[in-house]
Amino acid sequence: MIRLFVNVDHVATVREARKTIEPSPLKAALLAERAGAQGITIHLREDRRHIQDEDVRVVQKGINTKLNLEMAPTQEMVDLALEIRPYQISLVPEKRQEITTEGGLDVCSQEKELSGLREKMHGKGILFSLFIDPDLAQIDACKRIQADSVEINTGKYTELESPQEIARELERIQKSAARAAEQGLKVFAGHGLNYENVEAIAAIPEIEELNIGHFIVGQAIYEGMENAVTAMIRSIARGRGQQS
Ligand code: PXP
Repeated sequence: MIRLFVNVDHVATVREARKTIEPSPLKAALLAERAGAQGITIHLREDRRHIQDEDVRVVQKGINTKLNLEMAPTQEMVDLALEIRPYQISLVPEKRQEITTEGGLDVCSQEKELSGLREKMHGKGILFSLFIDPDLAQIDACKRIQADSVEINTGKYTELESPQEIARELERIQKSAARAAEQGLKVFAGHGLNYENVEAIAAIPEIEELNIGHFIVGQAIYEGMENAVTAMIRSIARGRGQQS
């Protein structure tokens, strides 16, 4: 079964709208875990628009599963990750003006720097993952720098409307997943997934882990966090052709 990591950033988005203490990303994370999430993801953005430094410490300490920390490869974030020591970091590119992560990291153009960073993280026992677009050259670069895993960006797949374009992008994701697995990299995926579009992604046999946030947190408003996570796990199982 694919592991579901629930991203609770947008619980903090609601809290930060009022700069108060509720709702709590940790409470949401614990509910997600109770419903079967195998891990929790948070993205500490440079502008701190949702998750704050203290959330990273509180969530890391309070959850019962594993913390995947998404971050840009900046000195500030690296220092924080080395101090907090999450289970895994996922490097993402970050532009201040973007609403959400817009694309994958360009690993090819910064192999030396990323390789140095990977060594530092491994020195502290932190798994090193890279968020990349479904592109074979990027996957090969991830292998060269000895990353543990790649997270394939499903954002474009989830935004396309024409069935032909969706099929083409899905094929790109499938080929990238196969190439990464052949290279010995663990294969994860995420961005923009919902109850429906997750099924074709879950059907890709190499994918071991999914990061899903915005849709689950939104759905939690209507049906509660536990029900939303349970329904997502059911969709993933359906995509895999398994019973949950
Ligand atoms: N993976 C990465 C690298 C991301 O930046 C995000 C968004 O923070 C996600 C997965 C989750 O995407 P969504 O919130 O659209 O489910």
